[in-house]
Formats: sequence, C-alpha cells, structure tokens
Amino acid sequence: MEERMVTGELQNEDSTVELSLRPTNLNQYIGQQKVKENLSIFIKAAKMREEALDHVLLYGPPGLGKTTLAAIIANEMGGQFRSTSGPAIERSGDLAAILSSLEPGDVLFIDEVHRLPKSVEEILYPAMEDFFLDIVIGSGPSARSVQIDLPPFTLVGATTRAGLLSAPLRDRFGVLSRLEFYGTNELCDIVERTSEIFETTITHEAAIEIARRSRGTPRIANRLLKRIRDISQVKGEVEISLQTTEQALDMLQVDDAGLDHIDHKLLTSIIDGFQGGPAGLDTIAATIGEEPQTIEDVYEPFLLQIGFIQRTPRGRVVTPKAYQHFGKRKEDG
Ligand SMILES: Nc1ncnc2c1ncn2[C@@H]1O[C@H](COP(=O)(O)OP(=O)(O)O)[C@@H](O)[C@H]1O
Ligand SMILES: [Mg+2]
Repeated sequence: MEERMVTGELQNEDSTVELSLRPTNLNQYIGQQKVKENLSIFIKAAKMREEALDHVLLYGPPGLGKTTLAAIIANEMGGQFRSTSGPAIERSGDLAAILSSLEPGDVLFIDEVHRLPKSVEEILYPAMEDFFLDIVIGSGPSARSVQIDLPPFTLVGATTRAGLLSAPLRDRFGVLSRLEFYGTNELCDIVERTSEIFETTITHEAAIEIARRSRGTPRIANRLLKRIRDISQVKGEVEISLQTTEQALDMLQVDDAGLDHIDHKLLTSIIDGFQGGPAGLDTIAATIGEEPQTIEDVYEPFLLQIGFIQRTPRGRVVTPKAYQHFGKRKEDG
C-alpha cells in the first residue's frame, strides 16, 4: 500500500518514534475520558482484591491509542507487558507456549485479535475463563488430553471493530472499551506534549491547526508534527508557526478537513460515478482500487464521524456537507 500521510495505520517510520511518545500511565493518556474512568476503577478493584484484571477488549480505528493503552494497563497493574498479534500466531502450539510462559499478573496483548486462526482461538477459551490449557498430546488412538494450569493473567485484545470477533471470544472479555476519535483540544494537547518530547516549540495556533487536520487521530497528529517540524527547522524558525504549518499541510496534500487524496477519491467516486450514492462497498472498493475491509476500518469511520458519508441498507451515500466541502451541488451530479 502506498504511503499515506493521514492514515491512522502504523507506517514503517512511525514505530521507533512512537515508542518514545507513548504515555506510560493513565494520567498521561490524554482524552478517552470514559474509557479511562472505567479502567481506573477496574484496575483499582483488581489490585485491592490482589487479582488479575478482567480481560479487556479495546476496539476502534487505527492510531487511536489501543496499543498504548494496553501497555499502560500492564504498567498500572504492575505486570509484564507481553505483546503479539493474531496473524503472528499460526498454530495452537505457538499460543500454548506463550500462555505457559506467563507469570501471575502479566498482561498478554494480542493485536488484531480478530485474525486469530479458529484452532488457536479455541485454546484461548479455557485459558481466559478458568486459567488452564487443554492440549492434546499425540494422535490417533494414543492421543490424550492434558490440562495445564496457567497463572492468573489479563488478556488485552485489540481490534478495529468488535463485530469482527467471533461471539464466543467476544463473550470472554469482561471489559469492552470503544476508543473514540479525539476532539481538537485533546489532539492539541497531544501535539504540544509531543513537541515537548521533541524539544521543539510550537505556537498554540499551529498546534490547533495540526489538531484540526489530523482526522481525530493521535498517530496522524504526531506524524504531521514530525514533518512540519522538519520544514520549520529548514526555514530557520525558532518556533513552529501557523503560517509554516498551513503551508506544510498544503504541501502534504492534507486538506482543510484533514482529508487526503484517497478520501477525495473515495468521495468523488461516489459523487461522480453514482450521483452521490447509494453505492455498495464492494463497488466503491473496486472503483478506487482498495480492499473493502480497509475502506470500512481505516477510511470510512472518520468520514462517517464528520458526517461526510452515511451508511444505508442500499450502500454508502455522500451527504450535502461533503458536496459543500468540494464546492459541488447534488444536482450537478
Ligand atoms: N491518549 C493518548 N495520549 C497521548 N498520546 C497518544 C494517545 N493515544 C495515542 N497516542 C499516540 O499515538 C500513537 C499511536 O497510538 P497506538 O496506541 O499505537 O494506536 P493503535 O494501537 O490504536 O493503532 C502512540 O505512539 C502515542 O504516541
Ligand atoms: Mg496498535
């Protein structure tokens, strides 16, 4: 996939920088007030009972802070943070090995938990419910089932959509938390926090502008800031100015609403090809050459959030608000 400036998905160059930007406790984690309040109560209660925290499912579009929050949970609980992902675990033996190496109170983070193979998932059920492994040793008539006790641990799963999880797996999470897109003020706080870590100064107006054009997503805000900082530095600025920020964002082809050329392609394909819709997801995907699932998980949530598209039973419809954004009128078709 091509490099996208405003995608919430993790891109190559993000990862090392992101580690240094990750808040390490709940107090430093900006926004997501409801999720934080809930978690902090559950964490406190679990600690008082000296038990592992209930299993937590974090869901929401990429870049909103799921991995960060999982690591914070481990830190707040005082357990080790062990991290893997659904597609990385191919065989049930792989998961059994990870689970049996856990220590009491550890947090096992499984990213993209909806992509666990079915056979692997089944190992998780008794592990999550009653902390034991049920494994079959040998095959044929000599096969026997062995049960191995596990220490109490907390599974934190992350997924872009809770609906992608199988019902039996979803039911085994005691805490389901949906992460929401961030507001401009929260993103502005994040941008200002990141600049401090970068040891750069940014004017408040510039920080607000980045926040406004980051699709409600911390990962995007941090990525834009990084680029804009480079441009500002080359210009010899002592602090990142609003003017440079606006120029840089234009240069990076991030429009006034934070949309980029793929958003434009998506919206104009419905406007021009289907008179504004409804158009089916698969049809749109084929028209713009993206995977339907990527459209649903990555591009569409923010467009729905800002009211540029609507989902109807017959497909996606572009709203008058989006027409206005492009300076078009519906009758023009
Ligand atoms: N609430 C937050 N406060 C501060 N920074 C955040 C917050 N949420 C996310 N970030 C930043 O955004 C980056 C991406 O977050 P991440 O947890 O990797 O998202 P996800 O796992 O949902 O894709 C992190 O490196 C972190 O710096
Ligand atoms: Mg993540």
